[in-house]
Amino acid sequence: MSEPNVSERGYVVAHLPGDGIGPEVTAVARQCVDAVAARRGFSVEWRPVTLGAEHYLATGEVLPDPVLDELRKTDAVLLGAVGSPQVKPGVLERGLLLRLRAELDLYVNLRPSKLRAGVGGAVGKHQLSDLDLVIVRENTEGLYAGAGGTVHKGTEFESATEESLNTRAGVARCVAYAAALAARRSGRLTLVHKTNVLTHAGDLWQRTATEIAAQAGVTLDYAHVDAACLYLVDDPGRFDVIVTDNLFGDILSDLGAALTGGLGLAPSGNLNPGRTGPSVFEPVHGSAPDIAGKGLASPAGAVLSSALMLDHLGEEQAGADLDAAVSAVLAAGPPGTTAQWAQALLARLDQAVEA
Ligand SMILES: NC(=O)c1ccc[n+]([C@@H]2O[C@H](COP(=O)([O-])OP(=O)(O)OC[C@H]3O[C@@H](n4cnc5c(N)ncnc54)[C@H](O)[C@@H]3O)[C@@H](O)[C@H]2O)c1
Repeated sequence: MSEPNVSERGYVVAHLPGDGIGPEVTAVARQCVDAVAARRGFSVEWRPVTLGAEHYLATGEVLPDPVLDELRKTDAVLLGAVGSPQVKPGVLERGLLLRLRAELDLYVNLRPSKLRAGVGGAVGKHQLSDLDLVIVRENTEGLYAGAGGTVHKGTEFESATEESLNTRAGVARCVAYAAALAARRSGRLTLVHKTNVLTHAGDLWQRTATEIAAQAGVTLDYAHVDAACLYLVDDPGRFDVIVTDNLFGDILSDLGAALTGGLGLAPSGNLNPGRTGPSVFEPVHGSAPDIAGKGLASPAGAVLSSALMLDHLGEEQAGADLDAAVSAVLAAGPPGTTAQWAQALLARLDQAVEA
């Protein structure tokens, strides 16, 4: 990782805005980070990186090695969203997003789901305190490891396999991160899997989680993934930190997003907890071509992702400032445009420091 080179507490952050609304929402996130950095006494040097669907269509490049090398020299990456209907599914997902996860060893996908005042949607019956949980999704293995293949393509006997890869080391390091997080929060960790059917991988996850939770001194519960979906909707208060495999985490975390205000609000961090390289922070939503360029995108997910980034960089107070600013703006009634969001957030950040 790069040495701080801007001030005593300075960070180099790659800004990868991507496509569609990605540049719109990350521009606001940058403004908010700069505002809070100035007030909390640190600085951020932003390094723009051009990748994504537009870049791919213009150049054929997805993630050139020299760009990856530049990313490795930063402290963190803030990503907007990549994708366009003109690019075949899989090109950017595998070539850019999954490759970044593998190359930078981003083995934890951190997906907080927090219900905030002022948020509508499928949350009517829940109290704010019911829904404040974090899903820790294993991010480099499972069904997303790329194992499998197609044979006899185009024939009647065509067969396609996707293999779920689960290594003891990969499971252990993910559970260890989740257990440490649980220890800092409520002391409760829930393993979500499907151990009654996926008996091989399930057994590895169960034994590993039991061992590591005991070492960390946290209480370990278990839920099958189908039951966990039901509980998330009906009784989310039973969860605080959930640890789960790649596919289950992908699905559960979108359900968590739906319950807490939708994709526009949901943040994520792709973490390299060992800090052998930068972690990547991105809102959960995509490039939203339907509203791109209209000034309607909510930057909340991008700002909350920046809050996770600051927290990861050790600027916990600044991260908490951003999180509180988003909550305050939502509680006052969510703004209708990106510009109004920016104005309201910056005003809140001003007040936070004056208070
Ligand atoms: N990590 C990523 O970069 C990522 C994630 C998901 C989808 N994608 C890509 O994005 C493109 C569009 O995908 P999609 O339409 O399925 O999902 P999407 O998240 O882009 O949009 C889904 C719906 O939510 C709305 N929406 C999303 N973010 C919003 C925001 N911040 N504010 C207000 N409304 C918002 C959109 O207008 C749209 O109606 C595709 O090319 C897809 O592959 C990229």
